[in-house]
Amino acid sequence: MLHVNENYSKIQASYLFTEIAHRVADHHAAHPDAKIIRLGIGDVTEPLAPAVVAAMHRAVDDEAARETFHGYGPEQGYAFLREAAAKADFADRGIDIAADEIFVSDGAKCDCGNIQELFGNDVRIAVGDPVYPVYVDTNVMAGRTGANAGGRYEGLRYLTCDASNGFVPSPKAAEGCDVVYLCYPNNPTGAVATKEQLQEWVDWANGSKALILFDAAYEAFIRTPGVPHSIYECEGARKCAIEFRSYSKTAGFTGVRCGYTVVPRGLVAYAADGSPVELRPLWTRRQTTKFNGASYLSQRGAEAIYTPEGRAQTKAAIDFYLENGRLMKEALAALGYTVTGGGDSPYLWVDVKGDSWEFFDRLLKEANVVTTPGAGFGRAGEGYIRISSFNSRENVLEAVKRMKGIL
Ligand code: MLT
Repeated sequence: MLHVNENYSKIQASYLFTEIAHRVADHHAAHPDAKIIRLGIGDVTEPLAPAVVAAMHRAVDDEAARETFHGYGPEQGYAFLREAAAKADFADRGIDIAADEIFVSDGAKCDCGNIQELFGNDVRIAVGDPVYPVYVDTNVMAGRTGANAGGRYEGLRYLTCDASNGFVPSPKAAEGCDVVYLCYPNNPTGAVATKEQLQEWVDWANGSKALILFDAAYEAFIRTPGVPHSIYECEGARKCAIEFRSYSKTAGFTGVRCGYTVVPRGLVAYAADGSPVELRPLWTRRQTTKFNGASYLSQRGAEAIYTPEGRAQTKAAIDFYLENGRLMKEALAALGYTVTGGGDSPYLWVDVKGDSWEFFDRLLKEANVVTTPGAGFGRAGEGYIRISSFNSRENVLEAVKRMKGIL
């Protein structure tokens, strides 16, 4: 009998952004002339930086000549990119991460989803609530949870993130867990964690032989001095953390696809007999077996982000999105809404004082504006919507005008 993986049947609904896409498609079918403004999924809208485009053009030319052609690349990623990332993202910030601890991939989503393959099925997992759905759903698919009851999966520890804790949970809530997913600047709330808060997590993880899976996909949006860009800014984090980095939001690579994951040497999990097992060789084995690397073109494009021109150009694009966020946050605050996020993040987390899917539908139907309902990110997201700052200035100003018209 061809048995299906029953764990998939535990997953309650379609992937959040697929459900939103269906609702938007239905609305569009019913109102074909409506000019819909999409502030839902965090997908960039501004073109790639000229330095990146030029590097990718050169890479295409390399592929056009026998002497410079590249087939399969090194499995961990090209040294030119790993070395550039190790220098700019870590060494220049005084962080000790070597190029051979960096694994280039086609984006942080895949790595965040795949990393759980390294752990036993009995590990106790903690996630924030609200949460980026990938952390949860991939563990459900792997069979690490029970059924979904009242919007939460049995067997998962949910760390409630709300206004009372500034959307940053305390490690006390994760007591007894082996793996915790943290994402700061946070998706979806846009909140940031301080150095002290992250240090508390690192100390807890080292003291409990737990592992932190740190998603730093939005670090390039940080503007407030002192807010950590990497978990490795914390003392002892090399011994307890894996970090995911993405060029998607950093440099508009959502369509190009490139990111990387840091697995430090010496980071361990434990065998059944309690002996330590290094995770870096396991991740190497996993990636070399199931993944053939990001394309040469993407990696050459990513390398160009680290040139002086690339840095200035990508920073300008992020500043542009941050200004979009500032304009929307100001307008919503003037309408009486409490808004978290923006400033150091592309996301605004708006307290709508009501049902989040209803508010989502209202904005869609009355203002032709697409957002993301907070409930889609977990039970603690109910009562909020997430607004993404990724759009043109024209569309952002138009969305503000429409929201002012109906709210
Ligand atoms: C989001 O909107 O949460 C992100 O774009 C999703 C992702 O990065 O996969």
